[in-house]
Amino acid sequence: MNLTLFVWRQKGATGEARFEKHEVHGVSSDSSFLEMLDVLNMHLVERGDSPVAFAHDCREGICGSCSMTINGRPHGPKSLTTACQLHMRTFKDGDTIYIEPFRAAAFPVVRDLVTDRSAFDRIQQAGGYVSVQTGAAAEANSIPIEKDLADEAFDAAACIGCGACVAACPNGSAMLFTAAKVTHLALLPQGAPERSRRVLSMVAKMDAELFGGCTNHGECQEACPKGISIKYIAQMNRDYMSATLKKARTIRGKVRAQ
Ligand code: SF4
Ligand code: FES
Repeated sequence: MNLTLFVWRQKGATGEARFEKHEVHGVSSDSSFLEMLDVLNMHLVERGDSPVAFAHDCREGICGSCSMTINGRPHGPKSLTTACQLHMRTFKDGDTIYIEPFRAAAFPVVRDLVTDRSAFDRIQQAGGYVSVQTGAAAEANSIPIEKDLADEAFDAAACIGCGACVAACPNGSAMLFTAAKVTHLALLPQGAPERSRRVLSMVAKMDAELFGGCTNHGECQEACPKGISIKYIAQMNRDYMSATLKKARTIRGKVRAQ
């Protein structure tokens, strides 16, 4: 396949930025999108130019690193597919492809196609964990969990933290990511003791990191390579409301007791 690429080149968050045009020839339709970029980079290095920076790790659709926008869509044109799992057979010989970094105020560009998505880590650190007792490992089946609940929690846990939901949202909202992380723990008995504190603190962190609010566009769900449903946003909103009321009642009780 012969392709014309327009690749976003940018030296840093505030550096000069532009699309750079490249012609690539002889691309195998069996190669992945990242392998096609590898070939481009090989040619760039051979002629003494700097390679295009892009992030990747597993190349198996599970680490969430390969975040880039391809022809205007986060992770490209194929639904439920990360950029690393996108194959060149999705495109046609002679196609023109535009490749850009994810766009969001909370994801500054590091270089070219690489964005800093550490805001997600900070949301996770704000409460996306369960406190565990140390000591001998608990018997795996000691806490029976209803099959339906386990399935729901598993579906939410499928989020790989790629950020496509944020890039696709007109508000740059991280609600789908945060909701997936909050809900997968909230649904399990192990996550129950910190349920209220977790949702309050993760939502507060999400707001502090400059992510926008959700206005029900649904673009996040469309772009998500793991099929995370927006029903988890509704679940998180319910949890947030009940945690807020619980906190207000606790404060009122303390004031009365004084
Ligand atoms: S919810 Fe989907 S799109 Fe958003 S970070 Fe998780 S896997 Fe990526
Ligand atoms: S490189 Fe890990 S999900 Fe794409």
